[in-house]
Amino acid sequence: MGRDAISVQFAPHREGKIREIDSVHQMIRRGRLGADRSLWITVAATGLVAAALIGAESFAQEQQPQGQQQQGFERGSVEAGQQKSQTCAACHGPDGNSVTPEWPSLAGQHPAYIVNQLQAYKNGERQDPGMVGFASMLTEQDMWDIAAYYGAQSLTPKGAQPDLVTRGEELYRAGAPERGIPACIACHGPAGDGNFLAAYPRIGGQHATYMLNTMQDYAAGERRSDTDYNQMMRNVAELLLEEEMRAVTSYVQGLTQ
Ligand code: HEC
Ligand code: HEC
Repeated sequence: MGRDAISVQFAPHREGKIREIDSVHQMIRRGRLGADRSLWITVAATGLVAAALIGAESFAQEQQPQGQQQQGFERGSVEAGQQKSQTCAACHGPDGNSVTPEWPSLAGQHPAYIVNQLQAYKNGERQDPGMVGFASMLTEQDMWDIAAYYGAQSLTPKGAQPDLVTRGEELYRAGAPERGIPACIACHGPAGDGNFLAAYPRIGGQHATYMLNTMQDYAAGERRSDTDYNQMMRNVAELLLEEEMRAVTSYVQGLTQ
């Protein structure tokens, strides 16, 4: 299963190339950043990426979260979800692309992750008063339908702030091992696609402002939707300085599939 998850993470690199140079441990990846589509960066990633991916593979195998919903497209109806998402469209956009940076986009998000979050608003693990109200109105089937609809939409690419790319990329790809901060890439993947099977969220292309806010909620212990995942995001977020959160969320906003 973990192996499939990794090929899923690599698959989206239609325009990028992953080439083996000397060994599997020496890769050069080309990723595109920037809304203007002109800024290309070449990332020389040595053993780190391979190590992080192997880490993610065993992690996904060992830590299948208990009690969390897995996968999910088969559990919902895209057509029914489109109807049922009309109340959500004002903020999340008719196609799941929100135009306000405080409101998360849901386009292309893994259905099981969306359902987990709606349940987290219902059971108090996430607090936002508006979302608690909207989530409470939904049955479980409504959640799967809406999640299938949003999951089937395409996320609009966004850019990263150029002066934050270097620092953001360093944290995303390498973490800060001396301070116990793991590389985000280990769980969220090279393009920020997350992990469909383990319901790790897609974060590449998400609004930086929303991500910064939610990282601060994790750090403050106000967002506890990672309870069934050994509090992994609370543990990561509380170690990051605010400028680091700003850099890494800006970088992630610039990642494209
Ligand atoms: C008035 C604006 C508004 C409306 C309408 C709204 N939302 Fe939200 N939604 C938000 C905001 C703001 C957040 C982020 C809140 C937070 O920080 O927890 C959010 C968060 C979410 C999340 C978590 C996203 C993530 O990446 O973790 C999901 C899922 C979601 N909304 C689904 C829905 C659905 C489904 C509906 C309709 C039934 C809906 N929302 C209606 C504003 C709205
Ligand atoms: C060990 C695995 C792991 C690592 C490492 C990790 N994450 Fe996460 N991340 C997760 C999981 C699982 C969730 C969903 C948890 C939940 O349901 O609240 C998540 C959620 C998030 C979210 C919220 C997404 C949303 O739509 O609300 C953001 C933002 C995020 N991670 C950013 C990062 C960044 C930045 C790093 C590196 C500094 C990082 N993560 C490292 C596993 C990980």
